[in-house]
Amino acid sequence: MFAPEVVEPVVDRLAALAAGGRVLEFAIGTGRVAVPLAARGVSVTGIELSEPMLGQLRKKADLPVVVGDMATATAPGRYSLVYLVYNTIGNLLTQDEQVECFRNAARHLDPGGRFVIELGVPELRRLPPGQDAVVFTAEQGYLGVDTYDTVRQHLVSHHFTFGEGRQARLGRCPQRYIWPAELDLMGRLAGFELESRHADWTGSEFTTESSSHVSVYRRS
Ligand SMILES: C[S@@+](CC[C@H](N)C(=O)[O-])C[C@H]1O[C@@H](n2cnc3c(N)ncnc32)[C@H](O)[C@@H]1O
Repeated sequence: MFAPEVVEPVVDRLAALAAGGRVLEFAIGTGRVAVPLAARGVSVTGIELSEPMLGQLRKKADLPVVVGDMATATAPGRYSLVYLVYNTIGNLLTQDEQVECFRNAARHLDPGGRFVIELGVPELRRLPPGQDAVVFTAEQGYLGVDTYDTVRQHLVSHHFTFGEGRQARLGRCPQRYIWPAELDLMGRLAGFELESRHADWTGSEFTTESSSHVSVYRRS
């Protein structure tokens, strides 16, 4: 996700959508996107929950960041663009919090401003009947497994990393997955309309086979 060929199309699209205005990244993390976007001359502010992630960001750039929850925290001023990438809306584990996140984006936007979300399409079609786990990556030194709770609409991504020995390290990331149609309804509840949806940052068509999407919402 840090490779220039991944980051550059993201930065190109966001800079074009900002159209010279100020932008706000929800869950800015270590600045993977924000730092190169700011290097283009775009004024970037962030909201981020994790101090350790911010510590990494501050080693790279001095961007204004509010420490807090993207569903509720307020950054100063108004913005032409708010963006939330890398599936991170799923880190909010309830539907209510996810709707609040849309409402918080709306509160920060100028009229006509845009909220951009990058999010995976739930991969339930890969679940065979009676099974609630899917291996999403299996390669030397790394195994990724998603386990699903389809009643709560939750999944936990399990990241196993290992070397030659018998021990592995496990990182777990719980998420609430969202269907595109549900995401659009969250947008409507917060006063947005879907302006465009593509399969990637370069504008590829979103189809039934797309595994993720970049959705642009416009504040009515
Ligand atoms: C997958 S990383 C993405 C970071 C960055 N946006 C990027 O694209 O590289 C997810 C980030 O979301 C942050 N995060 C998770 N829940 C959050 C919340 N409720 N409010 C703000 N940040 C949150 C985490 O601390 C982490 O930095």
